Amino acid sequence: MKFTLKKGDITKEKCDAIINAANSSLLGGGGVDGAIHLAAGKGLLEECRLIRQNSGECDPGKAVITKGYNLSTRFVIHTVGPIWHGGSQNEKETLKECYKNSLKLAEEKKLKTIAFPNISTGVYRFPKELAAQVVFEFFKEYSNTKTSIEEIIFICFDDENFELYEKLVSKL
Ligand code: APR
Repeated sequence: MKFTLKKGDITKEKCDAIINAANSSLLGGGGVDGAIHLAAGKGLLEECRLIRQNSGECDPGKAVITKGYNLSTRFVIHTVGPIWHGGSQNEKETLKECYKNSLKLAEEKKLKTIAFPNISTGVYRFPKELAAQVVFEFFKEYSNTKTSIEEIIFICFDDENFELYEKLVSKL
């Protein structure tokens, strides 16, 4: 499995699926969620509304999949990261669940190239260094599993995450 690190805007990524750091309402917000909805257009919100009507809120750690609409990606996988409360509320485990459940949905569709933002490290205040460590350990294990996925692309929007990932991705 190939790991690629990029600095930039995930809405510009041409791949099979991009991951959205959503909130439980699935109805959009700020940060990467806002950028993805803005770039995808109103079709994305309509599909999210439908999912919300049928299955209710998306719990932290869980993920849902929609089409990509006006984005250059076939699918958007929306996952809800943990809000950081100091580390005593199983935040690390929930963050790992976000990656695990997002990849599970991608594998069900036999997708090959998946782009992740730095889930929970913005508005949800998960410490960037700890999040990078959690993600690194997760993919260290995941890279040995049998999967349809051929490439994981880490898209870092801010310098801090990019510098953290530069040190880690080369060791995957
Ligand atoms: N492309 C890639 N990454 C981005 C982009 C973008 N266009 N915009 C922001 N980011 C990065 C931020 O720099 C941060 O590192 O995404 C990471 C996650 O930050 P947030 O988007 O704030 O997501 P999160 O911390 O998971 O909080 C989710 O914020 O936007 C709302 O609706 C969202 O309520 C939810 C909450």
